[in-house]
Parts: sequence; structure tokens; C-alpha cells
Amino acid sequence: MSDETRRVIFLGPPGAGKGTQAARLASHYGIPRISTGDILREAIARGTALGRQAEPWMEQGGLVPDELLIGIIRERLLQPDCDPGYILDGFPRTIVQAEGFESMVGSGRASDLVVLSVQVPHDELLKRLSGRRWCPSCQATYHIDNSRPRVDAQCDRDGTPLIQREDDKEAAVARRLTEYEKQTAPLIDYYRQRARFRAIDGDRSVETVFQDVQQAVEGEA
Ligand code: AP5
Repeated sequence: MSDETRRVIFLGPPGAGKGTQAARLASHYGIPRISTGDILREAIARGTALGRQAEPWMEQGGLVPDELLIGIIRERLLQPDCDPGYILDGFPRTIVQAEGFESMVGSGRASDLVVLSVQVPHDELLKRLSGRRWCPSCQATYHIDNSRPRVDAQCDRDGTPLIQREDDKEAAVARRLTEYEKQTAPLIDYYRQRARFRAIDGDRSVETVFQDVQQAVEGEA
């Protein structure tokens, strides 16, 4: 770990491994991982006003309106734990959100912002999403083949029964992938021109991908 400020954005389609890599990187540098998906799922579980607004969009695999997400991130980045840096997992996801972020923190090119686009073939994404299992209590993620819990179908951390995310079911997955292509993929060109941008081949073991991620963040790739 170093004293340098680090700000990282993970881009990539659903199932690319953004959450897996972002969690590792956050623990490696001791900075927060800000997952908008986790924030929204928690709001739904707690039945807050935000959760009630977001739920219908999320269940169907659509994107939650930009203004809600920009508000969430604006508030979250004001927390003091973000002072040494942060990792954004799932935000921005549209050009409007990226512009909103830029107006909060300034332009990426002139700063320490690193944008990583994790790329994985379509068939592998489908395998990862259909096999993913999730702890509704602590939000830990598993996979029925390649990241199994120690006890079948139970979270290693708190023993909660694991479930399949509602939006990992087939119809919602198809919509999420379409939304990604339409709304989020254009951010690749947006950030190529505005920040330190790196494409990461996510179709390898979690450990190998993490080595690339770390090198990219530290400017060695
Ligand atoms: P969100 O929770 O952000 O979902 P997502 O982007 O679709 O990403 P995923 O969580 O599905 O996948 P991931 O890339 O993190 O992969 P993971 O590491 O879990 O968003 C959900 C919804 O919230 C959105 O659809 C939208 O409605 C709403 N939302 C959120 N942010 C929003 C925003 N900014 N604007 C508007 N709406 C927003 O890995 C997947 C599986 O693969 C796991 O089982 C894992 O164990 C496995 N795996 C990971 N890496 C590997 C590897 N290298 N090899 C093999 N298996 C692997």
C-alpha cells in the first residue's frame, strides 16, 4: 500500500468481474469500493425511498435514472473515507453520469483518475451470470463452479443462505447486456480521450486479471 491518492473507475459488461476485481483492489489499497449496484440493492432490502424508486428498473435489467445515481455518488464522495481515493464499480454508466462525475471532481486527464475497461467474451459472461450466487446479507459473491462457498449454498462470512440475484435470470440478463452496449460502451471512447485508460482482458483467472489491474493502476501497463 502507498500514500498516493488513487481513483479508479471500472467499466465492463455485467458479469465481467468488475465487482470481484474492485473488491480486491479496494482491500489492497485500503480505500473504499463504491458499488452502485450494492448501494441500490441495500436500499431495496431496507425499503427506503431510493430502493422503491430503483427496484422496478433493476428487476428488469434497466438502468436506474441518471439523476438518482449522480445524487448517490455526490453524497458518497463527500464522506471522509474517500479522501485517500476510491474505486467506482458500476458508475458512471452513461455519458450523462460521466459528465455529472466530471463536474463534481474535475477532468480525469489532468488528475490521478484511472479507467479500466474489463473485457470478457459474451458466452463467458452468460456462464458467469447464470452461475453467480449472492449473499443478501453481506453482498459477497460466489459462483457455482469457480468460486464455491465452503459449505454448499451458504455464505462463508455469515452463513446466510445464498440466492440468485433477480436480475441474473435470463430475461433481465439479456436486457442488461443490451443496455450495456447502448448506454455504457460509449464511455470507452469517452474515457480514452479524457483519462488514463486501460483495457483489461478479464477472461483469465481472477488472480491473473488482478495482476494486470494492479499494474495498470500503478502505471506499469
Ligand atoms: P451492478 O450490481 O453494478 O451489476 P453489473 O454491472 O451488471 O455487474 P455485475 O455485478 O453483474 O457483474 P460484475 O462485473 O461486477 O461481475 P462479478 O465480479 O460479480 O448493477 C445492477 C443494476 O443496478 C443495474 O442493472 C442497474 O439497474 C442498477 N445500476 C447500478 N449502477 C447503476 C448506474 N450507475 N446507473 C444506472 N443504474 C445502475 O462476477 C460475476 C461472476 O463471475 C461471479 O460469480 C464471480 O465469482 C465470477 N467471476 C469473476 N471474475 C471471474 C474470473 N476471472 N473467472 C471466472 N469467474 C469469475
